[in-house]
Parts: sequence; C-alpha cells; structure tokens
Amino acid sequence: MIYQIYPRSFQDSNGDGIGDLKGITKRLGYLQDLGVTGVWLSPFYPSPMADFGYDVADYCDVDPIFGTLKDFKILMAEAEKRDIKIIIDIVPNHTSDEHPWFKKSRSSKTNKYKDWYIWKDPVGFGKDGQPLPPNNWIDVFIGESAWQWVPERQQFYLHTFHAKQPDLNWQNHEARDALKAVLRFWMDLGVDGFRVDAVKHTGKDPAYRDNPANPDYVEGEHHPIFAVHPKYSQYWPSHFAYTGMLSEVLKEKRFSDKPRFMVMESYVDGAEPIHEYLRYYRSMDPAVAAPFIFEGVWMPWEAGPWEDFLSNFHQALEKLNPLALSSYAFSNHDQPRLLSRLGEERARAAAVLEFTLPGMIFVYNGEEIGMANAKIPEELRQDPGVSPGGESRDGPRTPMQWSSEKNAGFSSAAKTWLPVDKNYKKLNVEVEQKDKKSSLWLYKELIRLRKSSPAINKGLIFVELTSDPNLLVFDRFYGKEKYTTVVNFSGESQNYTFASPGHVVISSLTVKPEHSLTRPGIKLKPYEAVVIKRGD
Ligand code: BGC
Repeated sequence: MIYQIYPRSFQDSNGDGIGDLKGITKRLGYLQDLGVTGVWLSPFYPSPMADFGYDVADYCDVDPIFGTLKDFKILMAEAEKRDIKIIIDIVPNHTSDEHPWFKKSRSSKTNKYKDWYIWKDPVGFGKDGQPLPPNNWIDVFIGESAWQWVPERQQFYLHTFHAKQPDLNWQNHEARDALKAVLRFWMDLGVDGFRVDAVKHTGKDPAYRDNPANPDYVEGEHHPIFAVHPKYSQYWPSHFAYTGMLSEVLKEKRFSDKPRFMVMESYVDGAEPIHEYLRYYRSMDPAVAAPFIFEGVWMPWEAGPWEDFLSNFHQALEKLNPLALSSYAFSNHDQPRLLSRLGEERARAAAVLEFTLPGMIFVYNGEEIGMANAKIPEELRQDPGVSPGGESRDGPRTPMQWSSEKNAGFSSAAKTWLPVDKNYKKLNVEVEQKDKKSSLWLYKELIRLRKSSPAINKGLIFVELTSDPNLLVFDRFYGKEKYTTVVNFSGESQNYTFASPGHVVISSLTVKPEHSLTRPGIKLKPYEAVVIKRGD
C-alpha cells in the first residue's frame, strides 16, 4: 500500500504552521507501524506556491518551507531503514512562471528557451487595442481565458491551470529532454519512482482549434470551467507518446539497481474508461508504469457498476499483459474525502473494497483515521482551483490529526496554513489507537491482511456475477489460498449464501468480525463489507 503524503499538512517540525520534510521523517515510525510499503510525496520543490507546489520553480531542489535537499536525503535514508519506498511527484505539463526556463522564454523571441512554452500571436486587436487570444480555451481552475499576454514578446502563453503555471511545449524535444533529466536526477539520489501529474494535458491539438461549447452548461448554475468541452485542449493522442517517453527513462541501464515505478495521473476522457486505461498501458512498459485507476473516486457507490468494471477491466488487463498492474486510488488531495462523499459506514466498506483489489493501492493521508472534508470559511480559502466536481480542494487538505493537543499535534504555531478540522479532539490517531473498532484499526487489519496474503497482494481476481443487485462479490486466489470479498451496497441487511466453507476475517463495521463460519451463508448488515477466508 502506498501512502500519499501532502507535505504541507502532514507534520510541522519548525512551528511555522506548514508541514515539512523533517516532520515527515519524524512520523516514519507511525507509517512503519501502520505497515505502509511506500510513500508518495506531493511536491516539495521551490515554488511561489500559487498552486501549493504544483507550480515548480526548480525541479531539482527543496523549497525552504519544506526544508533542504539534505533533509530529503535523510528522509530517504530513514525510510529505507524501515523498508518504505519513496515516490515523488513530477509535474511535466507546466512549470511556475518563476522557473528560470520561463523567465528566459518570456524575455524575447530569440533565446534558447523561446519554444519551450506555448507562445501564440494574437488573432487580432479589439476596439480598445487589447490583443485577442488565439482561441477560446479556458483554464481549468477559474474558467477564464487560458491565454496570458506578455508585452515583452507581444504574444500570449498558454496556461491550462493557474496563470502562474505556463504550459511547457511538449512538442519541443529540448523541453522533453530537460524533464527526462529531472527524472534521472532524482533516481540518482535513490527515489523509487514517480507520480506523474496531469499527463493528459501534455497533448493538445497542434492546430489549436476552438473547443466546442458544452451543450449541458448552464451559466450561473455550473462552474465556468464547464462552459466548453475540452476536446482540443487536452488528451490529444500525442500525450500517449509522452507517457511512453517518460517511462522509458526508468529502464535505462544505470537505474537497474532496483525496481522503479511510475504512476500516471489522468482522469480519462471518453465514454469507455476501460478502453482509455488500456491505451495508457499500451503506451508504456507495464513493468515500470501504470495509470491511476480512478473508479473509486467517481463511480456511483452501487454494486452494478463495480461488478461490470472489475470483471471487464481485469479480464482485459490480464489479456493485454499479465504483468500489468492496476493502480487504484479512491481519494487524493484534489478529491473529497471518502467520509464526506460516502458517509462513515460506506467509507469503511470502500476501504475493504480497495484493500482487497489487485495491483497497487494508494491511500491519502488521513483517510486511515476517517478524516472529513473540513469546512473552510471563504476568507480562509487557500486553493486557487477546484476539484473535478467544481468544489474547492481545501476541505481534504487540512492538517493531519495526530492527537487531542493544540492543532491536533500537527504544529505548535499560533495559526496553521489551513485550519485544523473542528472534530480533531474526537477524531485523531491517538484516540483511535485505543479503539479497536476505529477506522485506524480497520486500516491496520486490512494492511496486515494485504501484506500477509499472497492471494490478496498478487493473486488473480474473479468477479462472481450475483443475482442480488445490492451485493458485489469477488474472489482473490493464489495457489490454494482463496479469499472472497462481499460488499453490501444497500442500507438494508442482505443475505449471502454459498456452498463451500469459509470464515469472515475482517468486517468493515466491527473490524474483528461477529460472523464466524459462513456456510451456508451470512447476513451482512447495512453497508457492511466483509473479507472471507475460504476453506475449513
Ligand atoms: C494535481 C493538482 C494540481 C494540478 C496542476 C493535478 O492533477 O493533483 O493538485 O493543481 O494537477 O498541477
């Protein structure tokens, strides 16, 4: 299980109200005790923090807010002692406008970096003499023109996200090579892999055509980012070539000392997600790379869609390449917390589902204790953007709740960068350590099971097609070992019967199950999910 750390919110070690690398190192014992096998760190690079680090001003250093490169090396060494791998975030689609590459690029039309970003002439000038942008593309944060005018060049640059995040020009091979060199820099330091940010945006229509209007958009009712359909501004097929190029770097001879892996962030476009996921798998060597599978983020919490997706996707993946790994994330720093999306019982069932799925799984910090989306008053808003659903992303980014002490044990500062959620006295690591029915205990049990069972961590999946529309049932098996997961998606009790014996080893509601031998069947409580070990 890979644990995602959002460094600003994990642990502050110097009392400035913002988390840092030394803080993470301090908490490695907790992660080891939890049983995590790897950590993905969201960006810690030098940055003006217009998008909290996803606006990178130097890909090969650490922002002083988070510490130093030396602190990072110490963190890596300490993690290695605990058998915890380190995956870092790479942002290939854009840099900060304060990155030296961009500063040079914007200075003239004749410098070495002139084509490293996407520069276009105005299509004309308005009555007031204002330059008119090249097309109707809008940014994905506030929904205004994605083109920013630069008087020095008398041209616009493209920014898919914040105006301080100019898009790199992926058609330019020097810019691509520079990004590959960044991967080498970090692998030379020993990192085990990368989470690659927003890859689908690296491919754009080379003709820069206008995007079509979104016929379903209602002004005033929907967020302005939904006004047009981003047909030409993202997900152009060229980006599958770029994911391939990036992943190939991991296979270079000098990095053969240990396994390295890369996970691509892309909320796939198109009506057939499975088809789109397979395009990613085909674009890369599955021995070193996979796309995130985001069904746990967006799919309705219903048995039918899960049954269809799991049976079709895993069959197709197995057929494509038995070595290909699925890579599930059910939440992250851009998405509502599971608890706020599903409510407590279903959030716990979702954990059981995720932990018994094949491949790799990612858990966002705080999910293990069942943190909620905090309510952030508008005057304290920090996020420049929105989640794909249109809400601010501050709610799931509040500080980690360690204890009932001041600022939940996150920081000694008078004020933290985002307020600590009000519920922290009841909901924190310390309190939950003592409660064997807590979310934390459920996660610990699930991690223990996943680590100790070959069937669950590397076995095949077989989805049983049940006639009950409320139940999802799937088996995981390896050699003679076999487990069955049963998820009750309904708010009513449900019976599940089956012929061969088994006993429940984990229940989402009680952690240690109340059910014992399951033959001829068990009664699942509303929204309960169980894991059954098959055999006598
Ligand atoms: C990251 C976001 C970020 C955006 C731009 C995303 O996919 O996860 O947090 O704002 O890319 O870099």
